[in-house]
Amino acid sequence: MQNALAYAQAHFDDFVDELKDLLRIPSISTDPAYNDDVLRAADWLVDHLHHLGVAHAEAIPTDGHPIVFAEHFVDEARPTVLVYGHYDVQPPDPLELWDSPPFEPVIKNGTLYARGTCDDKGQLFMHLKALESYFKTEGQPPVNLKFIFEGEEESGSEHLPPFIETHKEQLAADVVVISDTTLFAPGVPSITYGLRGIAYVEVTLTGPDRDLHSGMYGGAIENPINALARLIAGLHDENHRVTIPGFYDTVLPLTDEERATFRALPFDVKAWAGEVGVTTTKTEAGYTALEGTSARPTLDCNGIWGGYIGEGAKTVLPAKASVKISMRLVPNQTPEEITEMIRQYFETHTPVTMQLTFTDLHGGYGVLVDTKSPAMEAAAQALEGVYGQRPYFTRGGGSIPVVADFKNILGLDSVLMGFGLDSDAIHSPNEHFGLDRFQEGIQSIIRFMEIYGSRS
Ligand code: BES
Ligand code: MN
Ligand code: MN
Repeated sequence: MQNALAYAQAHFDDFVDELKDLLRIPSISTDPAYNDDVLRAADWLVDHLHHLGVAHAEAIPTDGHPIVFAEHFVDEARPTVLVYGHYDVQPPDPLELWDSPPFEPVIKNGTLYARGTCDDKGQLFMHLKALESYFKTEGQPPVNLKFIFEGEEESGSEHLPPFIETHKEQLAADVVVISDTTLFAPGVPSITYGLRGIAYVEVTLTGPDRDLHSGMYGGAIENPINALARLIAGLHDENHRVTIPGFYDTVLPLTDEERATFRALPFDVKAWAGEVGVTTTKTEAGYTALEGTSARPTLDCNGIWGGYIGEGAKTVLPAKASVKISMRLVPNQTPEEITEMIRQYFETHTPVTMQLTFTDLHGGYGVLVDTKSPAMEAAAQALEGVYGQRPYFTRGGGSIPVVADFKNILGLDSVLMGFGLDSDAIHSPNEHFGLDRFQEGIQSIIRFMEIYGSRS
C-alpha cells in the first residue's frame, strides 16, 4: 500500500490534468441541449477505465443518459466493492456570477474551479486514481472492484432503479462506496451515516383565462399570485414547522445518543451562517441548525413565478402563478406519502376562484446506515490514517436517492466517504474543490481498499 500512496503523491499533477479534461465536458443532464455532452462524458470515462487497464468497462444505454459500468476482478477470497458516482452536473446558471467560465477549469491558490469539481466528477475520479496507484505499483488492488457511474443524478435518476433491478448479478458486491458528500470541516474527517430523502412537486394556480388590467379587474377577480402566496405562507407555522397534516407522523426521531453526538461536534453556527451572508439562523423550534439541516424534514420553495417580472412597472393581474417546492425527508417518511399529503393540502386550500395543476416531479428515500459494519470501520481507519484523527459520524442534509435503492434492491449498505465542504459551492456559481482534499480522498480510498481487503 505504501507504494500506491507514494505513487498518488508523485503523479498528482497528471491526475489533476486528466480531471480537467473530464471537467471540460458540459455534461448537464437536465437540459436536452447537452445530451451529446453527457454521452461524451460517459465515453470519456469508459476510455479512461480501459486506459487504466480495466478490461470490462462500457457505457450502457438507457432510455435516458447512459450508465457507465466497469468491473475488475482480482480474487475470489477478496471482498467486492461497488463504487458509485455521477458524471452529470448541475446547470451552471447564473453564468454571470462565475469568476471564470464553468467548463474551463482553472487552479487558483491550490483550488480547482469548474462545474463538477466537487459534485461529483472530482470525487468519482479519486476512485479511478486510487485504482491506478495500485495497478502501477502492486499490480492489483486489494479488493475486487465494480464501478457504476450515473449520468442522471442531478435530474432525478429516473432510469437507475430499473437498471439496478435488471442487473442484480452484475452489481453483486459486499458494500457500496460513494464519494459525493462532505467532510465535517477542512482537515476534520467524517463519514456520513445518513442522508435525507426528497419529494419534489410543482404547483400552478390559474385564475382568469388571460392576463388582465389590474385596475379594471383588481378587486373582483382573484389574483393567482396573491392566492398562491397565501397558500405557500400557510405551509409553515410560527415555530417553522410544516403545517401539512400528517407531515411529521412517520418521522424517525433523533435518539438521545445522536443528539449528544450532534452537540459534541465542533460546529460554530454563527460562522457557518456568516459564510452565506446571514447573521441569524431560523430552525424548527426545539432543534439546532445541525439537526435542522440533516436530521429533520423541511419544505422549501425553489422557484416562484407569474405575472410581469421585466424592467419597470406593468399593471397586470396575471392569469397564472407557479411554484416549485422540494421537501427534504428523513427516515421513515416516504416520498409517495408526503407528495400525496401536499397534493391534498393544495386541493383543500385552492380557492374556488382558481384551478389547480399539481405535478409530482421526483422523489427519493432518506437513509441511515449502520456505523458499526466492517466496511464502516475500515473507512474510519482509512480516514484516521490520512487525517491523524478518528472521523466523526455525521448526517448529510442532501439526497442521493440511489443509496436507498442499493439497500432495497441489492441489500447493500453504502459507505459515504466524501471530501467536499459546504463552502465548495456545489450547485452554485464558482463551484470548486481543494486539491488538498482531492489528494486526501485518493489517499483515503487507497487505505480503505487495503484495510477492507484484508478483513478477516
Ligand atoms: N452530492 C449531492 C448530494 C449531497 C450533497 C449529499 C452534500 C450530502 C451532502 C447530490 O449530487 C445532489 O445534489 N443531490 C440532489 C438530489 C436530487 C436531485 C434528487 C439534491 O440533494 O438536491
Ligand atoms: Mn452529487
Ligand atoms: Mn448535486
